[in-house]
Amino acid sequence: MKSKSVLQDVPVYQPGKPLEEVKQEYGLDQVIKLASNENPFGCSPKVWESLNVERDFFAIYPEGEAPLLRRELAARLDIGPEWLLFGNGSDEVVQMLARTFLEPGQESVMADITFPRYKTQVLIEGCKAVEVPLKNGVHDLEGMATAINEKTRIVWICNPNNPTGTIIDAEELAAFMEKVPEHVLVVLDEAYEEYVTDPAYPDSLSLVKKDPRVVVLRTFSKIYGLAAFRIGYGVMDPSLVAEMNRVREPFNANRLAQRAARAALDDPSFVDRCRQENRRGIEEFERQLKEWGLSYFPSQGNFLLLDTGRPAQDVFQCLLSKGIIVRSGAALGYPTHIRVTVGTPEQNRVFLAQLAVCLGKPAPIR
Ligand SMILES: Cc1ncc(COP(=O)(O)O)c(C=O)c1O
Repeated sequence: MKSKSVLQDVPVYQPGKPLEEVKQEYGLDQVIKLASNENPFGCSPKVWESLNVERDFFAIYPEGEAPLLRRELAARLDIGPEWLLFGNGSDEVVQMLARTFLEPGQESVMADITFPRYKTQVLIEGCKAVEVPLKNGVHDLEGMATAINEKTRIVWICNPNNPTGTIIDAEELAAFMEKVPEHVLVVLDEAYEEYVTDPAYPDSLSLVKKDPRVVVLRTFSKIYGLAAFRIGYGVMDPSLVAEMNRVREPFNANRLAQRAARAALDDPSFVDRCRQENRRGIEEFERQLKEWGLSYFPSQGNFLLLDTGRPAQDVFQCLLSKGIIVRSGAALGYPTHIRVTVGTPEQNRVFLAQLAVCLGKPAPIR
């Protein structure tokens, strides 16, 4: 059986190496995974307690509209509940956006290099992905505005950008929006929003409320530590939600995920602590990299893309043999960089110590 012809250009997602496989391969007891921008502190203990409540309902389909989570989240975001759309991870919201709004032959603008799911979904819909190179690791909004034409339907802005961690600020975004024509949707993917500490970061929710061209994506997979549950959401004009509900699977946000997300929202101090720990971790990485004379992109996410000055694959392998899994820049379009997720203070210490060994640098001073 031959698949749709457009699928020939669609890459298969390459997951990071699984922990157990690395342990076996290298005969290690301890492996630290800093490859997928997950929360090293897990999730709020309130989530564990909350899940018990669902025990009696495993045989019952979830409510796809997630009414309770919708109400609670809407109140926290100060928007109407009808402005929300939930997905099986924000990955699925990306997919639904492409499904709903792209027709074959249309175009979609995104950065090169950015989160790869935008391109994948655009290609699956038989559309052209117009990729505008980053400038110093930052979205080139001028270049992206110039790339928009009458065929363009969606522009994707990953803010902070994965894998560089850089942001575009409120002023830059406002200037960009002035150049965007009426027929184009601008999707602001804010998967790492809760980690951002830069005050110049845009207030995207106010933007959504006054501009129906704007869609904001967020997730419970990152700072809330619920990646395994698969739950993310989009905030957008209710007319867009109504259209997307035509393509949404009836039970796409599962019962446990909805319950876990509600419990996670109930523990803002966990989120605050993770944000603070993350910032400390980023600052520690930055201090050490400066000391070693290595460059990196300034990150507002929970990861850092740093230039090792060597083939990324060699550094990746060296760290792997020492029980540390990072993301090789080779797979991300940065052949001498690695992307490392900020871990716990102990994991960060081990990472820096082993990176020093792999790169032949002096041991970190703490
Ligand atoms: C920028 C960005 N958007 C979206 C996602 C998808 O997150 P999820 O589907 O787990 O909500 C990720 C995951 O790494 C990401 O980095």
